[in-house]
Amino acid sequence: MSPAWNRRHVLSLSDFAPWEYNTVLQTANSFREVLSRRTKKVPTLQGQVVTNLFFEPSTRTRSSFELAAKRLSADTLNFAPGSSSLTKGETILDTAKTYLAMGTDLMVIRHKEAGVPHAIAAEMDRLNSGVGVLNAGDGQHEHPSQALLDLFTICALLDPANPRLELLQGKKIAIVGDILHSRVARSNLWSLTASGAEVHMAAPPTLLPKQFADYVKASDTAGSSEGIDRKLFIHWELEPALQAADFVMTLRLQKERMTSHLLPSLREYYQHFGITRERLQQCQPHVKVMHPGPTNRGVEITSDIMDDPDMSLIAEQVTNGVAVRMALLYLMGGGKA
Ligand code: NCD
Repeated sequence: MSPAWNRRHVLSLSDFAPWEYNTVLQTANSFREVLSRRTKKVPTLQGQVVTNLFFEPSTRTRSSFELAAKRLSADTLNFAPGSSSLTKGETILDTAKTYLAMGTDLMVIRHKEAGVPHAIAAEMDRLNSGVGVLNAGDGQHEHPSQALLDLFTICALLDPANPRLELLQGKKIAIVGDILHSRVARSNLWSLTASGAEVHMAAPPTLLPKQFADYVKASDTAGSSEGIDRKLFIHWELEPALQAADFVMTLRLQKERMTSHLLPSLREYYQHFGITRERLQQCQPHVKVMHPGPTNRGVEITSDIMDDPDMSLIAEQVTNGVAVRMALLYLMGGGKA
């Protein structure tokens, strides 16, 4: 028997234990079954308020959390920074406290600065509010729900009846693209390395500093206590990452976060790191390609691969995102009850 879930906030995956990943995977799988029914709704969070505080643009993550909360029968509030009191000088903490005063039970937060969800969670704890905070992407730091839905998508493909972390043991996963600016990569490296998979990151040196390996050692708060032996490899060329890979995760070039000239041109990036059908021939014959979206078609990945249902898991990732976010809201909300 696994211990009972006792995490009020989900801010980072750096301290997630293997049993916690498995609890999320199993819970998400039962919600996936709910979502396949004609009536895709359960009364689990009836009477609770889930507030989406997105201080940065988002299509899929915000909609996915909103739908997940609605499928659990929660009432949802959506905050839009452009039309809010932030424009009148209100601080972020005061905005969060306003939603707390309206009876919010769970807050889902995205912000362009790393640490904002942590600061709001600390304030909610200081006020003894019982509110759970979920990080939906903070700067270049973490995006836990994206990594968990990626993990679920892989595990559910390997064993739809019983998706679990151990299925990834010995698998090879390549993560390719703008790793420097990617919170998706920073969350995925915790979950994927906790599974026993080999994680191979590939990007040009300007987008993948060597110190990335040190970052993992310095931030690893679960590794030593849980005995996780993390297998992380860093490449400045694509080929060693792709060779015999089971899964290839591509990442968007985050032009909005590039403050200096980190790339000669998008064309050159595509020539060296673009994921094409020809390059995927070095991988396992059953290789699957993933992308958290949004994509730059023809830069990170060709349209041909993106739209090939036998190779691309992109639509599956979006579908599974709702079930995984339902699982997280359920586990966090249940903790409070
Ligand atoms: C990612 C994000 O916002 O971090 N997208 C997402 O949540 N699906 C990745 C990105 O913006 O490239």
